[in-house]
Amino acid sequence: MCGIVGYAGARPALGIVLDGLRRLEYRGYDSAGVAVVCADELLVEKKAGKLANLEKVLAERAATDPGACAASPIGIGDGTTGIGHTRWATHGGPTDRNAHPHLAPDGRVAVIHNGIIENFAKLRAELEDDGVQFSSDTDTECAAHLLSAALADLRAAGEPDGPPLLAAAMRAVCQRLEGAFTLLAVDAAVPGAVVGARRNSPLVVGRGDGENYLASDVAAFIEHTREAVELGQDQIVLITADSIEITDFAGLPATGKDFHIDWDSSAAEKGGYDWFMLKEIEEQPQAVADTLLGRLTDSGEIMLDEVRLSDQDLRDVDKIFIVACGTAYHSGLVAKYAIEHWTRIPCEVELASEFRYRDPVLDRSTLIIVISQSGETMDTLMALRHAKEQKARVLAICNTNGSTIPRESDAVLYTHGGPEIAVASTKAFLTQLVACYLIGLHLAQVRGIKFADEVAAVVDQLHQMPGKLRELLDRIEPVRELAREIRSEPTVLFIGRHVGYPVALEGALKLKELAYMHAEGFAAGELKHGPIALIDQGTPVICIVPSPVGRGMLHDKVVSNIQEVRARGARTIVIAEEGDEAVVRYADHLIRVPRTPTLLAPLVTTVPLQVLAAEIAAARGHDVDQPRNLAKSVTVE
Ligand code: F6R
Repeated sequence: MCGIVGYAGARPALGIVLDGLRRLEYRGYDSAGVAVVCADELLVEKKAGKLANLEKVLAERAATDPGACAASPIGIGDGTTGIGHTRWATHGGPTDRNAHPHLAPDGRVAVIHNGIIENFAKLRAELEDDGVQFSSDTDTECAAHLLSAALADLRAAGEPDGPPLLAAAMRAVCQRLEGAFTLLAVDAAVPGAVVGARRNSPLVVGRGDGENYLASDVAAFIEHTREAVELGQDQIVLITADSIEITDFAGLPATGKDFHIDWDSSAAEKGGYDWFMLKEIEEQPQAVADTLLGRLTDSGEIMLDEVRLSDQDLRDVDKIFIVACGTAYHSGLVAKYAIEHWTRIPCEVELASEFRYRDPVLDRSTLIIVISQSGETMDTLMALRHAKEQKARVLAICNTNGSTIPRESDAVLYTHGGPEIAVASTKAFLTQLVACYLIGLHLAQVRGIKFADEVAAVVDQLHQMPGKLRELLDRIEPVRELAREIRSEPTVLFIGRHVGYPVALEGALKLKELAYMHAEGFAAGELKHGPIALIDQGTPVICIVPSPVGRGMLHDKVVSNIQEVRARGARTIVIAEEGDEAVVRYADHLIRVPRTPTLLAPLVTTVPLQVLAAEIAAARGHDVDQPRNLAKSVTVE
């Protein structure tokens, strides 16, 4: 949520900052802006709408003002220090004036921000009482005014100009702010330095050769360096071309944690696909294989040594809560079925945004599994902190190395999905499912509840999943045709039972967020208690059918539900495994998936629904990667 980039080095900053913003645009795309320190001036440009709007304005400016800073890739801005921002609006609508950077009145200090400054109303009132005029509706502008005032105070007190002054001023500002924030700032009087501050919002440092970077996500600088530094909570970082200095908010020296980024820049490129989402759907077989890699032995054992919870800790668990948001929550709903079945430990699944408000009963023997692709989702982070206050142990499932949620958890199991750029989650969902299965099996193994051969059979099935997914994706074309046929429907319903129910919820979520269509997922057995009234002549109903093997009763019940909706005029789109002949006569459209045991079936049944949503969105002319009103990594509550 909001993408932030900063650069200090020897090359023209503008092009580097814009490239970084392009890679971070998935985090927010309501508006974008840049500030570059050019000689001892600040070049600032910002524009509502997508980054392309800002680039257009910059290009126009280059054409009308060609003398200014002619060395950069787009013609202006040969300053070598800069910051840039792509916004997901919180305070103040997505307009030019609310776009970041925000400036102090003299136009010499620029600030960008991700998060929410919770005491901004009080700060704004104070500043206005002192005669400060605001030129936006944002909370961020307070920080710009406060920073400018802090710099002036330090200068008046005789502090020498230079990068340390900028850091000292930022520290003074942070002491006044409440809430969640990442701030970056530049001062025209301090060329060559960018200062950053971090509380509860992501900020990483990229360590280059004669240049350094700041960004909310490593994707912004992966093209230039793969060496990064993770910052801790409440830290200030000052970068110049050849230095990175970290302190806490009190000014005491602090250290970040160095890490190497093990994916290359092509992972964050579209690679010939029209949309990142389509590429990420195609990457799922590999993402699943990578998430399994090294975690299963040939003899059917689960190796999760990296999960820093002892076997005794796991034996002591008497209750599990899975806490997450959106798609990650749906993976938790699937996990509940698997974990309870394999371990017999009671397992509840909660929306992170609700969890702490209902005062859940937690103690030392409760295991909280938080699931988050980004590792930065504020609702999930707050639920995690609440759980830790109640002494529960927290295990994170996360895709983003070094992000806040795994850092604050007692243990972490990383999914190895690689960067997910499209706003709608696809490979993150499948890899979260895999991680949940691994945790469930590991718990079962440690507690000795299931026999080794039963676990080995599931392990064998997991090994087969990448191949099955490849096979499924290779014959997905009929789903694309179906998308074109139903793209103008007013409503699409999804039904499923058991693990098919969360898949129905996930299918409906994808369609809502991408195609802006009314879509709802239901437990198939609940239809008759009300929602069946929604069905009209021709209403598409997507039916997720479980395997007939082993759970015949479940399968037959869903087949009955298909007949019920069909009898009321529904157009049935049936997702069923190969060889399931019982569904053929009730299906207006039949989508086949590879044979998979019921508990693992969401790994295959979700995929056609992802493709369907992306294709319908594209057919309706929407931006598949950046749906309206959304952002990836939601760092506000
Ligand atoms: C939907 C989607 C969101 C996220 C949710 C949680 O396609 O992507 O619903 O799943 O915002 O995000 P993370 O997993 O980053 O915590």
